[in-house]
Parts: sequence; C-alpha cells; structure tokens
Amino acid sequence: MSEGRSPSIVRRMPPSHATDRWTGARHGLPTAYRGADLVVLGVGVMIGAGIFGLAGRQAASMAGPGVILSFMIAGITSLLVAFCFAELSSAMPTSGSAYTFAYVIFGEVWAWIVGWALVLELLLAAAVVARAWSHYAAQLLTDLGVDLPQVVASVVGQSTGFDLFTLFILAVLTAVVALGARVGLRTLWIIVVAKLVAIGAVIVVGALHFDRRNLAAIPVPATPPGKAGDTLHSPLLGILFGQTGTFGWFGIFAASAAITFAYIGFDVVATAAEEAEDAPRSIPKGIIRGLMFTTVIYIAVAVVMVGMIPYDRIDASAPLASAFRDAGEGFMVHVINVGAVLGLTTVVLVLLVGLTRVMFSMARDGLIPRPLSKINRGYRSPTRVTLLIGFLAILLAEFVDVLTLEPLVVIGALFVFIVVAGGVVRMRQTMPDLPRGFRTPFSPGVPIASILACLWLMVNLQLITWLYFTIWMAFGVLVYLVYGRRNSVLATMARPVPEAPAPVYYQGPPPGGPGAGSAAGPRGRHRR
Ligand code: ALA
Repeated sequence: MSEGRSPSIVRRMPPSHATDRWTGARHGLPTAYRGADLVVLGVGVMIGAGIFGLAGRQAASMAGPGVILSFMIAGITSLLVAFCFAELSSAMPTSGSAYTFAYVIFGEVWAWIVGWALVLELLLAAAVVARAWSHYAAQLLTDLGVDLPQVVASVVGQSTGFDLFTLFILAVLTAVVALGARVGLRTLWIIVVAKLVAIGAVIVVGALHFDRRNLAAIPVPATPPGKAGDTLHSPLLGILFGQTGTFGWFGIFAASAAITFAYIGFDVVATAAEEAEDAPRSIPKGIIRGLMFTTVIYIAVAVVMVGMIPYDRIDASAPLASAFRDAGEGFMVHVINVGAVLGLTTVVLVLLVGLTRVMFSMARDGLIPRPLSKINRGYRSPTRVTLLIGFLAILLAEFVDVLTLEPLVVIGALFVFIVVAGGVVRMRQTMPDLPRGFRTPFSPGVPIASILACLWLMVNLQLITWLYFTIWMAFGVLVYLVYGRRNSVLATMARPVPEAPAPVYYQGPPPGGPGAGSAAGPRGRHRR
C-alpha cells in the first residue's frame, strides 16, 4: 500500500488496518459491553448538566417556553448525525471513533484535526461537568443540613478558583477508569438507574403542577440590557445579519446551539467499539436507542419545567429546584440535587472513558507519544493515558474559568459531527463495498441535512466561541507539524503497510452468538 510513503497531506489509513482492530489482529482491549450496556453508556453520558442546569438557564435568559423547540431542534440535529456515526462505526468499529473514520476516509491531516477537536470536546466537557457536580454536591450537603467547617465550605461548589469537590470527583473517576471498564460499568448501571428514577419523579410531580398558560407566554425578541453592540458575545449569525438579541426565533436558535451540550455523548458510544460484543451491530443500535430515549426525556423535562413556572420567575442558578420550590414541592429539591449529583457523576465517568479511547487510538497510531497506548496487563486498560487525561482535566477545571467555556465544547462537537456526516457521503463514493452493519437512511440526504443543521447551530454560537475554537485548532495544527507528521506510524513504516493477508471484514455474528469469537482471531468473552 503506497500510503505509507506518501506525504502526510494525502496519507490515509487503509480500511483493513482500522477494521482488523475489531476482528482481532490488533485488538488489545477486553470485551466489556453487551447491547444494553451501550444504551446505558449513552444515557449515562448524555443526561447531566444539560438538563439539570442549562435547560432552565436558556429558558430564563434566551428562549422562554420556546426552549422546548430548542430541545427539539438540537435533538433532531443530533439524531441526523447519530445515523452517520452509526454507519461509520459499523464499518470501522474502533476506539478512535470519528478520529479513525477521518483517518481512513480523508487522511491523516483530517484525522489529527478531528482528534484534536475531540480532545477539546471531551476534556473540556469533563472539566465543565465536574465543576457543575461540585455545585450540586455542595448544594445537597447544605440541603441536608451538613455543616462543613468554614475552611472546607469556602472551597466547594465554587464557579472559579480552587475547588475541592471538583478535584475529588475527577480524581476518583480517573481511578475508576484506570481500573478498567468492567469496574466502571457496574457502577454506571446502578447510578444511571438511580438518576432515571430522580428524573422520572421530576416529570411526574412536575406534570401535576403543569399550567398551559405558562407555555402561551411567548416572550417577544429583546436586546438584553448592556449587551447592545457587544459583538464578541453576539451569535455569528446575528453579526452577519445585523440581528442580535434574546427571545423570539433568534433566541430559540441561540438556545438550540447551547442546548446541543445536553446531547453531547451519543458520539462517545462509538469509542466503545473495540470493547463491545458484535460491535458492527451493537454500536449503531446503542447510539441511536440511547439518543432517542434521552431526547424523549429531555423534551418531557423541558415541557414540565416551563409549564410549572413562568419563565421569568425561573432562577437561572438553580432552575429545576426553583420551579419545584415555587410549586411548593420542597422535597423535590432534594430529589433534584441527588439526581444531579448522580447524573453528573456518570457524565464525567463516560466522558473520561471516551477520551481515553480516542487518545489511546491516537497514541497507537503515533500521532501522540506511543507509550500512551500501552495497556496495563493487570487492569487490561490504557492506564497511562487515563492518568494523563485525569491530570489534564484537573488542571483545566481548577485553573481555567471553564464554566464560561461551555459553548466551546459544543463548537468542537459540531465540527466533528460535520466531518463524520461528510465521511458517510465520501465513503459511499470511495469504498462502496466496505461491509457495514448499518446504513444511514436516505443517503446522501441525511448526511447533507446533518451538515447543514450543524452549520446552522454553529453560526448561532457567539463570535468569541469561534475565536477560541480557531486558536485551539491552529495550535493543534502546529502540534501536528512539529510532532505527529514525523512520528505517525504510517510515516515511520520502513516498508509499505502490508495489506492483511486475507482481509477479514465483519460478516455478521459468529456461530454460537455474539461474543463467541470471530473467524479472524481471538475475541469475545473468552478473552476476559
Ligand atoms: N450531555 C452532557 C451533559 O449534559 C455533557 O452533562
């Protein structure tokens, strides 16, 4: 294969190289997830800060009851993209997810760019949600009447500066991930079920206080005081068309862009591919089922919240709690705080797992130092890269004002989504015969609609978010030029990449059911 010697700009990973990882040739991670685990993984990572905090903040400040539409717009966009992720991950079920898809379809430079954007998305999201976790944990202790010593109370639940609970949750979850996916998985199931019980209570009790007049109060467009002429904090779309402000349709779209944060995570399910049974089928199902379930929950919670309380009475610092307090359901405030603490725990956990898999793949390909791809024999997990990620997340969360950078997570994710949707169109042209366990319906219609929807959400993000994103990506390109371009495995191969002697693509589950092993090599339960 000539790719090995070609200049980096056209260097592409042969598809057999990516698929062999699943079929056994380069497989290193133990099988950990069955079908239902993948749905739990998706629900675990999606339902978190987006619904407990962001939804109410956007209702109060941007969209009013129109926040329900914002959830629908962001949800439909995510679903379109999820179909694209499903197809690519069924054809190339590897830990690298979008990074590896881009490597095979568009080449090394795009792979690096996507990998770098994924690092931004997942690392920053983990830091943001860990900060939010600290806020809810501190709130819960206060509600329960726990009196922390003053010296501790002053360093928990803080938005900026050193925060003890943020450090605690990131350190504990990093340790859990380092101990291996199985340990995390058991914890994950228990916590996800508990958070769903809390959210179920929010929906049921909230529905008892639903007043449709609150939905009818559609706020008129307005320019927030002090914001007129603040170009840096205006959505790009508003700047281009000379329209800025909150509420009305502009507010609903701006809120959709912000609310995309709530759906972030369905893409993380694809990073579990090398650890999933019958990955070409189970991963697409896990992505789509998890996302559909989450979308229904989100819309239900949004309807209940803005139906319970006039949007202008929502307290943006504790939106759901304020709605229930207003309705005289004080007990629900405890339920919400417990649900948020549990919910945000699984979000951080799965974000960390997802990022370790992406960076493990990047290290395996030599784009970041290869020792980071080493799998610990005892725990059978990439411990080194996990510890590095935990350390970086702690640094970021403690020393950067991450809560203001939430939209940067969204822009990074939307960028990745666009490349993945474009990848489906390109792969259909260049690799029509590559076996797939799932095909995006109505292609190229759905991938093109995904690209347009993501672009639309991106232009609804503020100019400052675009500037930060440009700086991050430019820095990434520099890192690639200095390191990855020279050290990539494809670049350093002395001889051309050999085609696998008999390329083995996925042919459906092996006889004896999923996980019973594949024709291509050792894999499945017996490897545990
Ligand atoms: N979707 C995740 C959350 O809302 C990141 O917390």
